[in-house]
Amino acid sequence: MALPELLNKAKTFGQEKLFNFYEELTDEQKKILLTDVQNIDFNLMQDLFKNLTNTKEETAETEIAPIPCTDATSMCEEERKRLYDKGLQVLGEGKMAALTMAGGQGTRLGHTGPKGTYDIGLPSHKSLFEIQCCGLKEVSAQAGCKVQWYIMTSHINHKDTVEFFEKNNYFDYGKENITFFPQTMIPAMDRDGNILLENKYTVLKSPNGNGGLFASLKNAGLFEKMRDKGISRIFICGIDNCLVKMADPLFLGFLEDSGHKAVAKSFIKRTADEKAGVFCRRGGKPTVIEYTEIPLELAELKDDAGVWVYGDTNVLNYIFDIDVAESLAEVGMSYHIAVKKLNCADFATGETVVIPNGYKFELFLFDAFSQLDSLGVFRIERKEEFAPVKNPTGVDSAESAREMYMAIHKEEN
Ligand code: UTP
Repeated sequence: MALPELLNKAKTFGQEKLFNFYEELTDEQKKILLTDVQNIDFNLMQDLFKNLTNTKEETAETEIAPIPCTDATSMCEEERKRLYDKGLQVLGEGKMAALTMAGGQGTRLGHTGPKGTYDIGLPSHKSLFEIQCCGLKEVSAQAGCKVQWYIMTSHINHKDTVEFFEKNNYFDYGKENITFFPQTMIPAMDRDGNILLENKYTVLKSPNGNGGLFASLKNAGLFEKMRDKGISRIFICGIDNCLVKMADPLFLGFLEDSGHKAVAKSFIKRTADEKAGVFCRRGGKPTVIEYTEIPLELAELKDDAGVWVYGDTNVLNYIFDIDVAESLAEVGMSYHIAVKKLNCADFATGETVVIPNGYKFELFLFDAFSQLDSLGVFRIERKEEFAPVKNPTGVDSAESAREMYMAIHKEEN
């Protein structure tokens, strides 16, 4: 589309400020702006702004019920071994890929560069990417087959991520075994509903949340490529849990054995009001309910054994059957709104300004669960498998993660 059509379209939606600096741009900059504007789904942005206030009301009334869980923490050794061996066999046949979601901006951590390049201060100074790669090397050696590794980036960190792997010789995992793909981006808005500019010729965009995963995989044509390689299951995790068991054979064995097409790891929350989402069923379908949404009497409810009925916390670690994952790429999920401090271009001067309450929009992967008939929840031990790196200091920081990592990996760190 050329300038007149795009300008008209923007005007129809009250977004003509995007062109405030058009006349002073170079030809190259004009091209960038026109492409950016062409890629905006104006209807979607308008709807998101309209619905800013009523997302929660829609879901609050839907009936909430517990979801069954398999407790791996109380499983006998024999059963663990049986499941582990089953998983290892499937891994050895090359049927499961590992996928790391590394498209986030890591704003809380404040690290410049992709979060996966962060050094949590181990004696070896391994980055988060290298920690995950070490896990993959170990499990690949056991299975006798290199687990294919897919890494979701964003347009903001893609180049830096790939360069980091190149510089580190792909941690000797083999370039051919690692695939990078960028996730979809979505514009940010101010409180008046204006789509923002990052500078005079670029729309301010951010990654569209971890829920953008399946559609981004599809856009990159990766489901087909995975199938060509004989992959039928996808292990999914975030980049910032340095105790994640990459391509965990036990977890895979659970999927195979249980007959579920999707499984999720959980651990039991520490306190009734812990700030984390928990697994449940809502309107009969599996989902995660946020701590802000669960009624207090349900958050506090315990079973006869004294365990929280709504206590299985979402670890952001799943395995999906590839067909199910692909079907979720087509599902229209609802965006969540995050109110954030944003750096953007002032519409009058083009200078960078900070707005304290901008709107960013994110899809959450767990929203897709409501499309599933069943979800196998697999309860693990928190201290063995969960050491998130979210903040520079204090809770869930490099310091706390380092301590936990070194307690587990005594020999090699
Ligand atoms: P978080 O929700 O903790 O976000 O991501 P973040 O970007 O790492 O950190 P903050 O909130 O800005 O401080 C959990 C996982 O989901 C990935 C992240 O990279 C992390 O592995 N993620 C998040 C994406 O891949 N894409 C996104 O758009 C958002």
